[in-house]
Amino acid sequence: MQNNTNGPKQIRPDLIRRDFPLLEGNPVAYLDNAATTQKPSQVLDRMRAFYETENANPLRGLYDLGVRATQAYENARAHVAAFIGAASADQIVFTRNTTESMNLLAYSYGLSHIGPGDEILVSIAEHHSNMLPWRMVAQKTGARLSYLEPDSFGAYSEQELETKIRKGVKLVAVAQVSNVFGRLNPIGEIIRRAHAVGAVVVVDAAQSAPHMRIDVARMDADFLAFSGHKMLAPMGIGVLYGKAELLADMPPFMQGGEMIDSVTKEKVVYSPVPHRFEAGTVSAADAAGLDAALTYLENLGFDAIAQRERELSARAYEQLSRIPHLRLFGSADPTDHHGIFTFVLDQVHPHDVSTILDTEGIAVRAGHHCAQPLMRHLHVFSTTRASLYFYNTEEEVDRLCSTLATVRRRMGFGDE
Ligand code: ALA
Repeated sequence: MQNNTNGPKQIRPDLIRRDFPLLEGNPVAYLDNAATTQKPSQVLDRMRAFYETENANPLRGLYDLGVRATQAYENARAHVAAFIGAASADQIVFTRNTTESMNLLAYSYGLSHIGPGDEILVSIAEHHSNMLPWRMVAQKTGARLSYLEPDSFGAYSEQELETKIRKGVKLVAVAQVSNVFGRLNPIGEIIRRAHAVGAVVVVDAAQSAPHMRIDVARMDADFLAFSGHKMLAPMGIGVLYGKAELLADMPPFMQGGEMIDSVTKEKVVYSPVPHRFEAGTVSAADAAGLDAALTYLENLGFDAIAQRERELSARAYEQLSRIPHLRLFGSADPTDHHGIFTFVLDQVHPHDVSTILDTEGIAVRAGHHCAQPLMRHLHVFSTTRASLYFYNTEEEVDRLCSTLATVRRRMGFGDE
């Protein structure tokens, strides 16, 4: 096992993969990490320990086990706050995933703060989870929805930002890293411009949080969301961060148990934030798993993670760009892909690409990546996406590229 307690300066995939039961000794080249990552034993063990030694319904039981379950859950919240530089754990709301975080925001903040005549600005490159909730808000409130459009490399020009982030815009929804381009967006600049016109900014950090240190205070994000399962944690635990004054001014999204101070026939007094937004029995074991996942990432260090991803990305980019008939989307700088390589192979449907890759044990995602408006913007119906994480190997990258180079021939296009 890699020594995760001393902050390794370099990630050794041969050692690190021993932490991942699904990867160790498995010939699959798992290159669908933007969809979800594999889980290390440290996370699985933590969840098992919760169920074996701390399990009770958190936030309710006043007996010892109940208190320990609550502690596990609230420790995870405090860890998330520290991990993203939030001033207080009360600014962290646990959800199921980024999608639920965005829906919570749209139904709660959106419907109570956006009105007719207001403008909502969403990037055309957004994942549906940070687009459809805002379309719903526009439809229900009579607000106008407009789109920020990147160029074909996934970049937003100064002019696009200047023109679209204008007076009347009340909310801007944008990903820090696109799940199709892998490109890091100029989020600081977008936030500065949005604040200058009085808009709040909702940052989708689902594809950035696994790869880089996030500092919400420095970024000055109003809201930010990400999913645990894309960063080694279990499925079913997600995060919504918000500025304290904004969260405090939001009504609940869901009603139910453990989100109230008092209920009478006449009146309901809701709990303060964040419990107001966490109705029903919470996912404490998953939160404990997220806690362990953050510890794992911190022990590796984002410098080491980024360095490893740079090495793999450079190798992937160099080989992919030499494959005839393959068109890569996103930046021409391999370091600006954050492990994500989305491409089309002339005249071959992405589903065929993915199926052929699967015959060589390579797992990638094919389709529209929950970003159909972006596909249309790029004049394609679907694409293939390979997405790397720090535990991938050079051999896996090479196998991806050498197999891709054979796909058109295997589909009957000859050697041209
Ligand atoms: N949001 C995930 C992806 O982009 C599922 O693949």
